Amino acid sequence: MDALLAELTAVVGAEHVLTDPDVTAGYTTDWTRRFRGVARCVVRPGDTGEVAGALLACARHGQPVVPQGGNTGLVGGGVPPAGGAVVLSARRLRTLDPVDTLAAQVTAGAGVTISGLRAHAAAAGLEYGVDLAARDSATVGGTIATNAGGIQTLRYGPTRAQLLGLEAVLADGTVVSRLGGIQADNTGYDLAQLLAGSEGTLGVITAARLRLRPASPPTLTLLAGLPGIEAAAALAAQVSSLPGEVRAAEYFEAAGLALVRAHAGLPAPLTQDHPAYLLVDAAASEDDAERMVALPDLRDAAVAMDAQARARLWAYRERHTESISAAGIPHKLDVALPAARLAAFRVALDEVMAKLDARAIVFGHIGVGNLHVNVLGPGPHDDSADDAVLRLAAEHGGTISAEHGIGRAKASLLHLSRSAAEIAAMRAVKHALDPAGLLNPGVLFVP
Ligand code: FAD
Ligand code: MLT
Ligand code: ZN
Repeated sequence: MDALLAELTAVVGAEHVLTDPDVTAGYTTDWTRRFRGVARCVVRPGDTGEVAGALLACARHGQPVVPQGGNTGLVGGGVPPAGGAVVLSARRLRTLDPVDTLAAQVTAGAGVTISGLRAHAAAAGLEYGVDLAARDSATVGGTIATNAGGIQTLRYGPTRAQLLGLEAVLADGTVVSRLGGIQADNTGYDLAQLLAGSEGTLGVITAARLRLRPASPPTLTLLAGLPGIEAAAALAAQVSSLPGEVRAAEYFEAAGLALVRAHAGLPAPLTQDHPAYLLVDAAASEDDAERMVALPDLRDAAVAMDAQARARLWAYRERHTESISAAGIPHKLDVALPAARLAAFRVALDEVMAKLDARAIVFGHIGVGNLHVNVLGPGPHDDSADDAVLRLAAEHGGTISAEHGIGRAKASLLHLSRSAAEIAAMRAVKHALDPAGLLNPGVLFVP
């Protein structure tokens, strides 16, 4: 056995150092199937001490490491490159402390899934603010590392807004830990916030102290058929301005709905077909709900008040990702635009697709200006659509990543959203914490 594998085995035990390609395949290909790489091995530490030991061994051997959680990331950041790396899976770090109901906080291990965390909070009468369709696999560590958004970003903000502190292991095995949950804490750099959105390039997150919210489950789901994106953005703004707490305002179009219906075998959601749809979740009193459904722009709409009927409407939105993947390997381009530029971007996108002989399935979190542009047609290694769509977003005053991160997919285009000075400062932080560049090389920055 080579020296590194022997050292890793000494740290975590032979059972948790995986080398058989049949076993490691699930760790080396991403969820979309667009990104694949080579794992020298997959190491699965069971606690923070073992993470530190594994990173120290890799550092001694100059071995690049790719941290991985649930492997639901959509920008290729959690799988190794073709040149090979050790994959460090954090999935066994599943400690979940009792909820601190007085502070409305909890400490969770990096490998806890979002659905596990949400269920744990719910059992204490509280809610974790982040929710996403990948909830059964996506982990606390992965969602912090990508600063994941999701369907409730409109109400509670992205993952970083839930983050009060964390524990992480740096590339040289040093453990940094701040899990006290003191909200009034003004003692210098906020390392937790620095690691949020760092995509595994600064440290391996092992646990986090997270803010919880009072549970106020949505009471109403509304699906409206509309003439286009402009009407959807306008209606989203209108419902948000009414009394009643809007939790989600989600967008999809006829092309995506057709894929979902074909893949999932679902009936048409409304009496007529429409070019665009807006799905709204609200925690509203009966009076507020009545005011919402009486809006004159709701010409063709379905309203659901009980859990089963609400889930039926949500399926049209939540099943987009799997339905698109069933139609091909998509180029997943996750952009956000100022509300006033959404319509112009959408028109220009069709022109770009026509030139590339490709098609775009567009949906997303329109309440925060976030559109998921899923391009079908170009092969996995043809980046022309990525390049054209992300440039288009930047030209329209938008960002090239709203919630999925930069990963390997967009590293060469980071300059479209960040200035040279910002990138230099980010690289300086990376160099200070990981001078040998061992954590996730090729992610966020081109090496
Ligand atoms: P992984 O995919 O394993 O890793 C993602 C990144 O985080 C990689 O760069 C990896 O190196 C790093 N990382 C993982 N764990 C750690 C750790 N412990 N320490 C340091 N770095 C780490 N995303 C959204 O933002 N909003 C959505 O609504 C949403 N919906 C989705 C729906 C579906 C069906 C799918 C498949 C994906 C969706 N995603 C969404 C994308 C994905 O779920 C998120 O990016 C999520 O945060 C990834 O978590 P993960 O645990 O799977 O991380
Ligand atoms: C979503 O909002 O459903 C996700 O971000 C996943 C995707 O973009 O496919
Ligand atoms: Zn999303």
